[in-house]
Amino acid sequence: MSTTGAGLRSALLAASALTAVFSAAAPAAAEGQLTVYCSVQEEWCRPMMAAFEKETGIKVSMTRKSSGETYAQVKAEAANPKGDIWWGGTGDPHMQAAEEGLTQEYQSPKNAELNDWAVRQWEQSKHRAIGVYSGALGFAYNTKLIAEKKLAEPKCWADLLDPKLKDEVQVADPNSSGTSYTMLATMVQIMGEQKAFDYLKALHKNINQYTKSGAAPAKATSLGETTVGIAFMHDHVTMIVEGAPMKVVAPCEGTGYEIGSMSIIKGAKNLDNAKKFYDWALTPAAQAIGAQAKSYQVPSNKATPVPPQAPKLSEIKLIDFDFAKYGSSEERKRLLAKWDAEVKNQPK
Ligand code: F6P
Repeated sequence: MSTTGAGLRSALLAASALTAVFSAAAPAAAEGQLTVYCSVQEEWCRPMMAAFEKETGIKVSMTRKSSGETYAQVKAEAANPKGDIWWGGTGDPHMQAAEEGLTQEYQSPKNAELNDWAVRQWEQSKHRAIGVYSGALGFAYNTKLIAEKKLAEPKCWADLLDPKLKDEVQVADPNSSGTSYTMLATMVQIMGEQKAFDYLKALHKNINQYTKSGAAPAKATSLGETTVGIAFMHDHVTMIVEGAPMKVVAPCEGTGYEIGSMSIIKGAKNLDNAKKFYDWALTPAAQAIGAQAKSYQVPSNKATPVPPQAPKLSEIKLIDFDFAKYGSSEERKRLLAKWDAEVKNQPK
């Protein structure tokens, strides 16, 4: 009797374990797929996708690329879209994609919970791109290298033109990187276009490498591969939190900032799942994954705690960045072509 009882019990346990296995696997199959183009750091993309899969059972396929590169991919695939949603990256290529009809309108019920700057992005993109985070542009220097090379600590954009910094400064290429395009648009807004290009041409002499990704110069500064790196201030902070001998600078002349954005790709094959991701990515729980992944942007949902490490935007001299103008297709194309012609290919 007891043997039979024990046998029945273990059979039942085995059966319920099997059910558990199947029901854990079932939602993924039932809930389907989602292809996400991710334009933040890989270290943040991965836990974000894992958390969404866990919560919804939707199977995510994720590709990480810089902002300008993702825009180019979405455009190239427009006739047969492969991606469903584009999460993160600076707002300018999201705005350009919106204007060019590469992304589609969506109004999330979460919009009501967001900061004004995030909703303004949505309004200016005609309801196609929404703000997910914000952060200011700046530069950082490796404190050991500055001391060893007996260089003055740079405090202003103008200081980066010092001939003593020849080959000591790194920044990304604005074609691939939204960070670097933000810098280009920032200089034009601070100085006026002529002076901005004069500045960028002079800076070119001090640039050791134009990287593909915007955050790469922060990493290179932390490793001592460059003395100065230009990137978003939060990307430098990540390096400092990891122990790098670096100092972050909010340039004295003032600086630009980004509204990191999200858009649903026009013709998304998994549209319902794209909307689920969109709504979820705007929740405080999803946005809190950023700080856990050492990404210290300011989140767009008012209820998401701002990480204490995040550079305080209220204490930085921010310009009144014209996101509509510098995210417009015509202006972005024109400025990038001009940068290619007048800066990138110049001899040093
Ligand atoms: O995740 C870091 C980050 O700096 C974001 O804040 C920003 O939107 C994105 O990377 C820009 O990357 P890139 O310059 O490579 O397009």
